Amino acid sequence: MSSATVINDQAQEYKKQAAEFAADMVQEGMIVGLGTGTTAVFLVQALGRRHREGLRFLGIPTSVATEKLALSLGIPLTSFAQHESVDLAIDGADEVERGTLNLIKGLGGALLREKIVAAASKKFIIVADESKLVDHLGEHTLVPVEATPFGWESTERHLGALGARVSPRRTPTGQFFVSDGGNLILDCNFGTISDPPAIEDAIRRVVGVVDSGLFTGLAAEAVICGPKGLAHLT
Ligand code: 5RP
Repeated sequence: MSSATVINDQAQEYKKQAAEFAADMVQEGMIVGLGTGTTAVFLVQALGRRHREGLRFLGIPTSVATEKLALSLGIPLTSFAQHESVDLAIDGADEVERGTLNLIKGLGGALLREKIVAAASKKFIIVADESKLVDHLGEHTLVPVEATPFGWESTERHLGALGARVSPRRTPTGQFFVSDGGNLILDCNFGTISDPPAIEDAIRRVVGVVDSGLFTGLAAEAVICGPKGLAHLT
């Protein structure tokens, strides 16, 4: 087995431990935001087990993929048509800034629904392996920006004027990646970001942008797992 495989297996185990810890925070009767990504898969699987053991809760999924997984596990789902807010949303992240818990999300392309659910939550918790912790956002990850297909080239230029190197996300076969909402993702390289709330605001003001994967001031807690075990950051 190669060392890369061992590291990847360990990361998966850390993601699973963090997700299972957070799944235990779900209480009877809650409306729960169900995140998207490999860490969130462990979360939804753990919640599926809790549901089978008799815990009653309703999920609001943040992507079509999560919706399918939750339904396959028998988790009852609801929507914002029935419920104004979410009691607890649990999701992964691509980068988590130490100290602030500002985030980059959206490598999986689900950032818009994820942000809608996070913003509607009384509590938003991040689950991740330790490799996601950074001192400054942008160290390893581009900022995904969801943009309307019409005029995306103009939106791209305006994002470029904010200082980003921008590339439209493509599938492995070279097609434009299309989000669950039917939009494009423009991946923006801002380098290391010193003022995430200012960049998040500036991106949001660009016409054609639906929202970005910068999540500032939303996460209340992060459950991070690494070689030394679980850390609960607030
Ligand atoms: C999807 C996301 C994911 O939460 C993020 O990409 C983390 O994914 P993973 O748990 O697979 O590392 O934002 O849009």
